[in-house]
Amino acid sequence: MGEPEFPLRIGGAPEGGIRDRTGPAGPDGGGTGPATDPPVRVLFVASECAPWVKTGGLADVVAALPAALVAAGLDVRVCLPFYRSIRREVGEAPACATVLGALVREATLPSGVPVYLIDAPWLFGRDGGPYQDGEGRDWRDNAQRFGLFARVCASLASDETPLLWRPDVFHGHDWQAGLGPMWLKTALPGAAPSVMTIHNLAFQGLFPPETVNALRLPPGVYAVEGVEFYGRLSFLKAGLHYADVLTTVSPTYAREIQEEAQGCGLHGLLARRRADLTGIVNGIDDIVWNPATDPLITARYDSKTLAEKRFNKEALQRRFDLVVDPTRPLFGMVGRLTWQKGVDLVAEIADRLVQAGGQLAVLGTGERGLEDSLRVLARRHRGAIAVRIGFEEGLAHEIEAGADLFLMPSRFEPCGLNQMYSQRYGTPPVARATGGLADTIRAVGPGDCAGSGFLFEEATGTALWEAVEQALAAYRDASCWTRIMCHGMRQDFSWTRSALRYRALYHALVSGAAARRRMPG
Ligand code: ADP
Ligand code: GLC
Repeated sequence: MGEPEFPLRIGGAPEGGIRDRTGPAGPDGGGTGPATDPPVRVLFVASECAPWVKTGGLADVVAALPAALVAAGLDVRVCLPFYRSIRREVGEAPACATVLGALVREATLPSGVPVYLIDAPWLFGRDGGPYQDGEGRDWRDNAQRFGLFARVCASLASDETPLLWRPDVFHGHDWQAGLGPMWLKTALPGAAPSVMTIHNLAFQGLFPPETVNALRLPPGVYAVEGVEFYGRLSFLKAGLHYADVLTTVSPTYAREIQEEAQGCGLHGLLARRRADLTGIVNGIDDIVWNPATDPLITARYDSKTLAEKRFNKEALQRRFDLVVDPTRPLFGMVGRLTWQKGVDLVAEIADRLVQAGGQLAVLGTGERGLEDSLRVLARRHRGAIAVRIGFEEGLAHEIEAGADLFLMPSRFEPCGLNQMYSQRYGTPPVARATGGLADTIRAVGPGDCAGSGFLFEEATGTALWEAVEQALAAYRDASCWTRIMCHGMRQDFSWTRSALRYRALYHALVSGAAARRRMPG
């Protein structure tokens, strides 16, 4: 994903296929209205989608939410760049149109949701990651890459589209889609209304001012009341300024980003638009992340067969060359090894954790310095601390299932998925009370066994250590621990409820747009 660009203050169905319809959806589309209303059609515009291309939680959301929306009666299609890695996955995929020199290809996600793949080989046909080359350097032409991508997707949501399928709503995710709402608002006839979702405000897509001309942006948009951000072009700000509706991935993060400390310089704009900004917490894919059926773990279990979990712990200890001992509390951690995730705070308490009898297994990739500090700790505490640098889906499942506790001391966390996975796997999280962590973990109070995890406030090693000590005390009380595990396992983290909130938001947007069309003048 690269480095955050703004310093933070705080410590399918083919085209013409069976489901295509013409004409705008009725205001109640999507299953709640009269049977004759066509479902609301939504174009999801994003740079990642699991299992094809993933660097973090965005990919999980873009895979799971459209499927949940389809189940809720909507007609959703996803638009992705046709990266070389996707071509390897799906092959050539039939092309159905050309827009601005890019081919629009069609495919279907494993969930059955249709996908449009924007094929511009000079921008996306290369080895490496979606944003960076193999050495971890941002692609130098990222502005051209995601500039064209967003422009093509905006065309598909306007009168310019060559496709029969016309979305009622353009839904962009993160900065890579940010220019879409700007094109829709300022230049394209018959444009659909737009929603912009912030998954991480720290990544903004900032480029030098010359980029404005290079991308031939409409005249006048490079202004404070537009796409300009402290002398640079900001793709994310474009989305946040021009989209009709803004969302982010938890209610707490929606509040936090309106304040200077976590607003990444955009808090003013977000506070002004607070009436248009909603926080909707992410769900998880509860088929992929289900300890009762997970094929990637050693022993399957649920809240009634918790004793089986110990086989996963033993397997994890072996896999990481840790001392195999069922009594030692084993902490797990999975994720991007970055400042955001508080990896340095974990390094700070690691010695104490080992002295207290604990073990630690970490899986992740990220900043070199943080990777190295974990390697040093692993060498110092052989058998007690182990780190695997890499991205391994299967191992992530093994850690969720095999660890006793999960560490997530994030400095900020828009939503976070791992803490939900860990609760589902009976692995209570120790996490900072921020963003989605505060919204999805029920805190165990001092001396009680009522919650599902352990929360701390200050982003310091001391505060993290206090929470770890509290967790260890609870862990030593077997019946208390079982209750905490079960609280987490029984929580409903499915997408259903959140999908209904997105559906309501689309309906309001579509009926508002229809009302505006009816107004004279
Ligand atoms: P973020 O999107 O900020 O990285 P999330 O918690 O929302 O954080 O989502 C991270 C997703 O990426 C989870 O599905 C997590 O399991 C996965 N993930 C992150 N790093 C790794 C890794 N090194 N190996 C396997 N999965 C990983
Ligand atoms: C971002 C955030 C993470 C969130 C994910 C999906 O990468 O860092 O907190 O869960 O997007 O919305």
